[in-house]
Amino acid sequence: MRVDGAWRRAIELGADGRSVVVLDQTRLPYEAAWLALADHGAVVRAIRDMQVRGAPLIGAAAACGVALAVAADPGDAALARACGELVAARPTAVNLAWAVAAVRAAVASLPPDERAARAWAAARAICDDDVERNRALGGHGLAILRALAARLGAGGAGRPLRVLTHCNAGWLATVDWGTALAPIYLAHEAGLAVHVWVDETRPRNQGLLTAWELAQHGVPHAVIADNAGGHLLQAGQVDVCLVGTDRTTRGGDVANKIGTYLKALAARDAGVPFYVAAPSPSIDWAAAGPADIPIEERDGDEVRWVRGRDEGGRPARVEVVAATSAVANPAFDVTPRRLVTGLVTERGVAAASPEGLAAIFPEHARPAP
Ligand code: MRU
Repeated sequence: MRVDGAWRRAIELGADGRSVVVLDQTRLPYEAAWLALADHGAVVRAIRDMQVRGAPLIGAAAACGVALAVAADPGDAALARACGELVAARPTAVNLAWAVAAVRAAVASLPPDERAARAWAAARAICDDDVERNRALGGHGLAILRALAARLGAGGAGRPLRVLTHCNAGWLATVDWGTALAPIYLAHEAGLAVHVWVDETRPRNQGLLTAWELAQHGVPHAVIADNAGGHLLQAGQVDVCLVGTDRTTRGGDVANKIGTYLKALAARDAGVPFYVAAPSPSIDWAAAGPADIPIEERDGDEVRWVRGRDEGGRPARVEVVAATSAVANPAFDVTPRRLVTGLVTERGVAAASPEGLAAIFPEHARPAP
């Protein structure tokens, strides 16, 4: 997607077979700085510190991390150690474990001297597949937006279709296109007028990343405080909610950035459809329900301190919670399947239920107990 007019991906693999470059998301939206990841330790740190973030991008970066580890030491012990460190970097997004397992499986049966090239090819394929998957998902989401616009008489210049999103499920959270934002980019390109309400998404303010990438593409949007969504939904100013997911159970429950659940509750009360963009690698077929999803608890300093720019335009960090108060920082919540209108996948839109998901992913269907 576009970064200052140039077409880039959020993660780029070098032709040399051992270099990886990412857009450092801790410096956005104030500065677009590219960061080279030289070894798997750098990938672990980048994931843990959220220089790369968003479930699909974490998976892609971790795949590259395995390839970098194999290039440094193709032995079984080093491979197992690196995979363990990568998977432990962040617990909630299931794409991470999925991508690490995929690259590991691709090399496991090979002699050590053949592993590096194969691992690199597997990591590259995971990145390329992510782009195609998101594009396909975007097409199915676009069909939803078109149908809604037709029903509401929206989508023209006078009355854009108004979409509310939470966190960043755009191209910055993936290799390209995004998940929840892919239908929005396609709609914008197709001339369907959209306006995006962008939840700020405290504590880390991923909404500012969403606003940055929408601005790069000229998509009309407004950033709102997290607490404004309920009011806008109630006031009839939102036509549809569209969010991403970090882990979806096989029953259709959705773990996503903290605050998603509250929007789903408000959307239900307001009678507004609530869709989740759920590419298949973010579906955890081993998870039956919310209790099977580990919720990441992050450093309280993310609540205590806020990053931004000072009046002189310099990057700054200010303390907003007094040191005399304790803080808590659960990073994700689970929206139960009953609040989800549909799961938009690369194969089409599924009902948020075991049967709905099994119908479009029959290879994962389980016999009823
Ligand atoms: O903690 P983050 O920023 O990695 O969380 C990201 C989200 O919750 C996104 O909404 C989710 O990963 C979907 S991204 C396509």
